[in-house]
Amino acid sequence: MNREDFPMLDKDIIYLDNGATTLKPKCVLDKMNDYYENYSANAHRGDYDISYKVDLEYENTRNLVKEFINAKYLEEIVFTSGTTESLNMIANGFFANYLEAGDEILITTSEHASNVLPWFRLAKKIGCKIGYIPVDDNYYITIENVLKSITPQTKVIALAEITNVIGDKRPIKEIAKIAHERNIFVVVDGAQSIPHKKTDVQDLDVDFLAFSAHKMCGPTGVGVLYGKKALLEQLEPVNMGGGMNESFDSENEVFLKSLPTRLEAGTPNIAGVIGFGEAIKYLTNIGMDKISETEHNLREYLIDKLIKISHIDIINLESDSGIVSINVDGIFSQDVAYYLNKYNICVRAGNHCAKIIKKTTGVANSIRISLYFYNTESEVDELVELLSNKDKILKEML
Ligand code: ALA
Repeated sequence: MNREDFPMLDKDIIYLDNGATTLKPKCVLDKMNDYYENYSANAHRGDYDISYKVDLEYENTRNLVKEFINAKYLEEIVFTSGTTESLNMIANGFFANYLEAGDEILITTSEHASNVLPWFRLAKKIGCKIGYIPVDDNYYITIENVLKSITPQTKVIALAEITNVIGDKRPIKEIAKIAHERNIFVVVDGAQSIPHKKTDVQDLDVDFLAFSAHKMCGPTGVGVLYGKKALLEQLEPVNMGGGMNESFDSENEVFLKSLPTRLEAGTPNIAGVIGFGEAIKYLTNIGMDKISETEHNLREYLIDKLIKISHIDIINLESDSGIVSINVDGIFSQDVAYYLNKYNICVRAGNHCAKIIKKTTGVANSIRISLYFYNTESEVDELVELLSNKDKILKEML
């Protein structure tokens, strides 16, 4: 669907690495070029026409993000460089001041490094514990397991809404309800979910949410930190500098701007933010429900074919996203990726930055096929055809 919008799809490739980054439609590229060619000024600093236009476009994206995730206030949308920076800001700007020795942070072994390492460091610094919510046989979180994992010390539950290897979708709304009844904060890594499904932060009632533009048809280097206004007010800026201060005279007289500018020090990625706005418009025009449905159907189509190949192990037979992680019996995942690359098929192989998942799945490395709405059944057919011949893989992989 909509393949004609993507210049990269004119090339002779089959792109199945959308979990890593998605392709960009021409309208997003044009929007960024338009900024660089026609009104390339800084944001929030100039008193001339093209600078005002920058401000309008930049703030328009903030409004588009607000509508896209149904945030209550514009101030709840902070632009960052991506999910990783957003999660680090949440850990180091908010929870570093809130948590105390002995408190517990609950995660799972399926999390991406960006939702593990900031918590590891914080736990070490403060003397907190990291707890793991166990997953079931299909690597899903159950409400029962969440309830069993919570202790009186639990102060924060930090989870991906959809994980990047298993692709399981977590019941965030139910988890947030349980957590809030116990005064526990909920942080959500939305990198793999926001691009693929409709999101309503007020309905989910999450405290913080992090996601990236580049996984949803936008440019690299732009992300969002969403936080409930009252919590963001307490989030200490990790970066101090230009743009975010109101005035300063000495080390004792530093006055910061209000949200969200207070948390956006330095010249932002202006072209990226403006391009991101166009990406949101683009996805909204297609419709998030249509995107989810298209990916779901394509995933079913792929699974139906892979399941018939005896030398393929599907790691996440059950999942609710376009992520399918597999291995070819006895062949190292990266070798399979090299083989597919010879046929211009792009997949990701390895541990996918989810390095403790092996504690649960027993599988350290895999081949990850991650679909988006512009992928097609014929692309899946080509992939499956190449994977179905194990002798050919063995012969051609190196
Ligand atoms: N987080 C990205 C992935 O899962 C890079 O591939």
